[in-house]
Amino acid sequence: MSALIEISGVRKTYTSGSVEFEALRGIDATIDEGEYVAVIGPSGSGKSTLMNLIGCLDVPTEGHYVLAGEDTAELDEAALAVIRNRRIGFVFQQFHLLPSMSAWRNVELPLVYAGVPRPERKERAIAALGRVGLADRIDNRPGELSGGQQQRVAVARALLTEPDLLLADEPTGNLDSTSTRDVLGLFDELHEAGRTIVLITHEPDVAGRARRNLVIDDGLITVDRLTARVPA
Ligand SMILES: Nc1ncnc2c1ncn2[C@@H]1O[C@H](COP(=O)(O)OP(=O)(O)O)[C@@H](O)[C@H]1O
Ligand SMILES: [Mg+2]
Repeated sequence: MSALIEISGVRKTYTSGSVEFEALRGIDATIDEGEYVAVIGPSGSGKSTLMNLIGCLDVPTEGHYVLAGEDTAELDEAALAVIRNRRIGFVFQQFHLLPSMSAWRNVELPLVYAGVPRPERKERAIAALGRVGLADRIDNRPGELSGGQQQRVAVARALLTEPDLLLADEPTGNLDSTSTRDVLGLFDELHEAGRTIVLITHEPDVAGRARRNLVIDDGLITVDRLTARVPA
């Protein structure tokens, strides 16, 4: 296995006025291609800050983050945006679906921005929905789908451009227990198909579904362990 994510000596300091706050205080972690890793920690521990760095939405104050061999510290905003679009599929707690558009229209959006012709967009969107088990829901709007199905649509959209990494921030945070099982089952399938997944959560039950847990506390990784994962 080769490393997809290499984080070394990463610190992140937020400055507001004259006040500085160090949200990450020296993070080291390597994540290989094909791994399914959960980052778990309490509120305020630095999870979202770390997710923003891994997702190339922000850069470290100190240290290095190498994604697929590229050191993000050397990239400007435009180059970071290219990496983000090409290498990372994002899934958030809020599904960020457009309510007036059908499932396939929501899924095709990244290809609209990329200038792909419409027939190809539709074909790829429908294929992506098939891969997340929604082949029979392509014409439904978000309001006609369960929370779990809506999150599946969001995952289909995130995977449309075949990113190296699926990065999910509290993806089950808005879901009931049935929909949570649904989405975590999908993550299991994606992992078994070889997808690299980094999932951020504050819930131990959710983190336990990943193969490896990085526990973050007060800006530091305190535990890096393989889970005794019990398939659902
Ligand atoms: N833009 C910011 N400016 C100042 N402090 C921030 C900012 N973003 C986050 N923080 C602080 O950094 C710490 C970690 O925040 P965050 O990464 O959002 O934690 P988590 O996602 O684990 O709840 C918190 O103490 C938070 O208040
Ligand atoms: Mg957070």
